[in-house]
Amino acid sequence: MDTFHIHGPCRLQGSVRIAGAKNAALPALAASLLVDDTLLLRKVPPVRDIATMRRLLANLGVVSQDTEDGVELSPNHELGREGLHQDEAHYDLVKTMRASVLVLGPLLARRGHARVSLPGGCAIGVRPIEQHLAGLRALGAQVELSGGYVDTRAERLAGARFRFSKATVGGTENLLMAASLAKGETVLENCAREPEVVDLAHLLCRMGAQIEGAGEATIHIEGTEDLHSADHSVISDRIEAGTYLIAAALTGGDVRVENVQPGHLEALLEKLEETGSMVDIGSDWVRLQRNGELRARDVVTAPYPGFPTDLQAQYLALMTQAEGPATVCESVFENRFQHVPELARMGARIEIDGNYARVPGPTALSGAHVMATDLRASACLVLAGLVAEGRTVVHRIYHLDRGYEEMELKLQKLGARVERIST
Ligand code: EPU
Repeated sequence: MDTFHIHGPCRLQGSVRIAGAKNAALPALAASLLVDDTLLLRKVPPVRDIATMRRLLANLGVVSQDTEDGVELSPNHELGREGLHQDEAHYDLVKTMRASVLVLGPLLARRGHARVSLPGGCAIGVRPIEQHLAGLRALGAQVELSGGYVDTRAERLAGARFRFSKATVGGTENLLMAASLAKGETVLENCAREPEVVDLAHLLCRMGAQIEGAGEATIHIEGTEDLHSADHSVISDRIEAGTYLIAAALTGGDVRVENVQPGHLEALLEKLEETGSMVDIGSDWVRLQRNGELRARDVVTAPYPGFPTDLQAQYLALMTQAEGPATVCESVFENRFQHVPELARMGARIEIDGNYARVPGPTALSGAHVMATDLRASACLVLAGLVAEGRTVVHRIYHLDRGYEEMELKLQKLGARVERIST
């Protein structure tokens, strides 16, 4: 298992190129199940979750190939009809990646049947999928739960009006894909408005779907019988970009993130300015510099356009060094503070009270052995290691590899002393 060895403290300086968004690429890959044609997806990041989704798609009869332009996905005709009718996402893969559930909507809509292992909880919360299932039922699917699997059937889904009782990113994406092949009009209310949802809608429109309102709470979809091939470039990863910007602020650095959509980063940039950083914005880049004091500011995570839960852990690392008390409230997931006991091992003072983490004031961090528990918690610990005195060893880096492309190389280029040690 790989570890990161980080020698701190350091100051980050330079520019870093941001990859395509993992959370936009995952549903885009799942959308390949909707067509009997080829999809070309550009800017798919070479991270572990993407490899897992490609393996899952291969089991479901979609082959994917790396080409010069991106990832090309097409039905595996060598398998014949039999092969193409493997409609099951097995527990072995789903348990390693919850986003596997994104194959449910497209599989059902295109093949009339899908059997997907229930994902169960994970390190950051219970994460049920009842909204996905209620939405598919509203479109006429029969949904049964047995043996840890959800089994859904529908000869052809029928458009309907459905209101999510809780806004969900994956739920909105599953329903968008399913409704694109349903008969008639679907109106989805209280949808997630994340840029990744909008990006999926753009891809589906390129494939021939008729979708209006993506990025707003209500989305209209006019179903069609067939979708076709498309060429699509996924948006850049606002969470990867946000992670490097927070790292720059934390280390009193000067970093330019390139190949980003600055509009997707507004809530974070506003907060980083309040905490004492200077931010310059270009058409596809953001430069952050911090020379002066780092001020404490409270944060409440919220669905987009609010402050992203996926940057909460990294922001908390920043607050351990800020002047004054800060409170960070996690309102999206119920158990997303597992980085806190690890930060405490490095000397941070943080009190947890339910969904609140309170930092009474700054403390110097010192290098220690710490354990990553999930993707963003790992990023938080790496960031803490950049300002800690001495050597920090972050264990279980495989969590980090799920969503960050070559983080050690990108940090090295910015001047950090980070090494990956494989054992
Ligand atoms: N929820 C329900 N019922 C449902 C669906 C969701 O109660 O049927 C709850 C969840 O338990 C959670 C909240 O609603 O408390 C939001 O969940 P959502 O469905 O929006 O999240 P997701 O689709 O499972 C995606 C990202 C996450 C990101 C969240 C929130 C992907 C592949 N994953 O998850 O990304 O944190 O949206 O923005 O897009 C990450 O990249 O580290 C990550 C965890």
